[in-house]
Amino acid sequence: MRLINIANLTPGLIVGRPVHDEKGRVLLNQDVALTPAYIRALEGKECTAIYVKEPDVDVDVLPDEDLDPATRAEAIIGLENTFQAIKMQVSRLRQQSFEDLRELCGSPGLQALMAPGGPFAQVQEAVEAILDEILTQSTLAGLISIRTASAALHNHCIDVCVVSTMIGRVIGMPNPRLKQLALGCILHDIGKVFLKSTGDDVSDVRKHTLLGFELLKNAPDADILAPYVALEHHERQDGSGEPRGLVGTNTIDRDRSVHREKIPTLLGEVAAVANYYDHLLTGTASQPPVPPDSALHAIQSAAGTHLNAAIVNAFLRVVPVYPLGTEVLVRSGGYRNYTGLVTKVNRTQLARPVITLIKDPRATPITPIEINLMDETDIELRSKLS
Ligand SMILES: [Fe+2]
Repeated sequence: MRLINIANLTPGLIVGRPVHDEKGRVLLNQDVALTPAYIRALEGKECTAIYVKEPDVDVDVLPDEDLDPATRAEAIIGLENTFQAIKMQVSRLRQQSFEDLRELCGSPGLQALMAPGGPFAQVQEAVEAILDEILTQSTLAGLISIRTASAALHNHCIDVCVVSTMIGRVIGMPNPRLKQLALGCILHDIGKVFLKSTGDDVSDVRKHTLLGFELLKNAPDADILAPYVALEHHERQDGSGEPRGLVGTNTIDRDRSVHREKIPTLLGEVAAVANYYDHLLTGTASQPPVPPDSALHAIQSAAGTHLNAAIVNAFLRVVPVYPLGTEVLVRSGGYRNYTGLVTKVNRTQLARPVITLIKDPRATPITPIEINLMDETDIELRSKLS
């Protein structure tokens, strides 16, 4: 089983794991053979990649999903309902200037959506479920593969939430703070519901961070810190970020008497790392997606100037270099130029997974050969973009 880009699907491939739409409904079940019609349907659903089994190669990737699909679906539904309800309110505005939208954020109509029993409460419940699941894990294994399965904003929010929470745990955040982090992260881009509006010259980054903050800080029972994730996830350590151009300390120390006028909450800086990684893997309007190992290099390069270096260090202890199901090329040793799949992530050595070779250097299928890179230390890999 391997992850493959929708653009490279061919009829006859077998679906390896169920494919869900943005509302968590099953689009295609496991073991269904792809037809041209199914492939067209997937293209229309904003999927970017799915798991497939190859008929001629029988390799099993452990179904190690970091987040239960049911938990993900619950979160997606909560987010979808929240975003839709806000959009309805926005569409009733006659004018949609930045100031009008800012005012709307504090209006009783909008805040009612965030009251107990409203759609926002669904998101809070989903955050609890996510925390329950992922805090039992020491590292992530396959999440990064799954997260490329859809380009939808909701999945992005969930993935940033999961990765951030894992980072938060590694840097020793206590559970109440982790909850604030998770809630802030799942809603970090909530201000994007306002982006369709026109009529002013406020940049999209400024607009969605500032309006996301306004919305969350005015919520009934507002969490004190979660709104700051929305506000600060585009700030940069060197002060070149938005919306306030705050400077970071590249540490996890938060002594305000020393660090006044620095990026204050840490939560936004954690979210910034997870957000940056997510955009690298899924691609953006201006940048095509990059393979997981290249994404990690890019994160390391951005540490210090753009991203908080101490948080990047924690991130590297959580995220696998070669996520489960990733296609890899062997670059050294006796199997040089063979192609394999990552079939197990060694959680103590995230750069040394177990791989199963499936093709020789001429791309001819072979009898699968399993290699544990913890034992074969001379083998180096490069991940491929499926
Ligand atoms: Fe954002």
